[in-house]
Amino acid sequence: MKSFKLPQSLLLGTATAATQIEGGDKNSNWYYWSLAGKINNNESSIVAANHYNRYLEDIELMDNLNQEIYRMSIEWSRIEPSRDEWSEEGVAHYRDELTQLLKCNIKPLVTLHHFSCPQWFQEIGGFLSDEAVALFLRFTEKVVVELGDLIEEYCTINEPNVFVNDTYMDGKYPPGEYNNIRHYFKASKNLIIAHVEAYKLIHKLREQRGYTNTKVGFAHHIAYFDLKTKNPLTKLSKKMMDYSFHTMFLKGMVEGKLVFPLGSKVIDKGIFCDFLGVNYYSRHLIHSSLNPATLFGEVKVEANLADDKLNDLGWEIYPEGLFYVCEEIYNKYQLPIYITENGMPDSKDTKRAKFIYDHLYQVKSLIDKGIKVERYYHWSFMDNLEWNDGYGPRFGLVEVNYQTLERKVRNSGHFYAKICENKVVTEEMIEEYINKSGDNL
Ligand code: BGC
Repeated sequence: MKSFKLPQSLLLGTATAATQIEGGDKNSNWYYWSLAGKINNNESSIVAANHYNRYLEDIELMDNLNQEIYRMSIEWSRIEPSRDEWSEEGVAHYRDELTQLLKCNIKPLVTLHHFSCPQWFQEIGGFLSDEAVALFLRFTEKVVVELGDLIEEYCTINEPNVFVNDTYMDGKYPPGEYNNIRHYFKASKNLIIAHVEAYKLIHKLREQRGYTNTKVGFAHHIAYFDLKTKNPLTKLSKKMMDYSFHTMFLKGMVEGKLVFPLGSKVIDKGIFCDFLGVNYYSRHLIHSSLNPATLFGEVKVEANLADDKLNDLGWEIYPEGLFYVCEEIYNKYQLPIYITENGMPDSKDTKRAKFIYDHLYQVKSLIDKGIKVERYYHWSFMDNLEWNDGYGPRFGLVEVNYQTLERKVRNSGHFYAKICENKVVTEEMIEEYINKSGDNL
């Protein structure tokens, strides 16, 4: 492993989402999902990391760890707990949190929909409802009108592809449907339209208020699909998976076009992203299958991978994939890239520092090649509720003790803080944070 430098212009920070860390919200659909026993070990979103009450302490910690940027989400159910009822308390809370971040010179990127929604919205069908787009836009407007003076950068929707897949195909997110392909596409269409319209609305509202530096995009989950064997069936399968999981959403959310099977309509002419948000975690190996319902493929992890190539959830650690997916999307659209999520569950914290090293090395290689990667947000700042998988997977640079709610910076957190401070990885840092922590396995 060798030392390397990153450009000062690359901003470094972390990402979180409200439901996963805040706690205390009884109006969110994930609270109801917890009550229904749908989270591993019967765990609940009700306390999480109690960030809602501890945000000042957490922001101070971010500041101590030299964070320049922070991706967070605003919980819709805190702002509109019941339909048409707006919460002043919720708005005031986020005003305070954002003000605190700005005081510490940490630039926020705010996500408006990160998998969760108010229970009342869930009950009318969520993103399947014919009212969904209008209701999401009303919430968006409320955020920009009330808090837009503090937020320059917006991420409208987090991972629309994972969201519809886990909600309507895999039954993991409320209301937990299985293989409902009709709903997969219907919700996808509404999410795409919601993004395009929100993009325009945010720009309009901020412009009316005299702001010129607004940036709006969405966070796209891009998996690196690779072929187990290069036979015509796996090739065909990869094409179809890429299309329905990646391209269909890009066409809609970047280009404003609804494409097959969502329709063939131009929602509006233009480009509806100021940056490309990339969430990258792993490589997915496609094996061929004769099942048309799974697009003639089965996604698996390579068998017999060495333990240091796997994270605690059994996903392959494959840093080169970050390079490939960013290169491909940049060549398509030539928009600045924000890596809006990248990280791993590693409860012992023996692999994360190396993971950070390897992925930032790919970022450096991308930048050296002229690909404009401008931001890197590590997932995640602290341990959090990994949705239906509960509190087991530990993604944090900061460890949360769920009994005492005490925070403790992990070795990898100190390593990342050092990188953020000087934008360099030295040989001493490799020795101290990677080699030594490896020895302590
Ligand atoms: C999501 C996060 C999640 C992370 C790790 C992404 O799909 O946006 O909310 O915790 O991956 O699974």
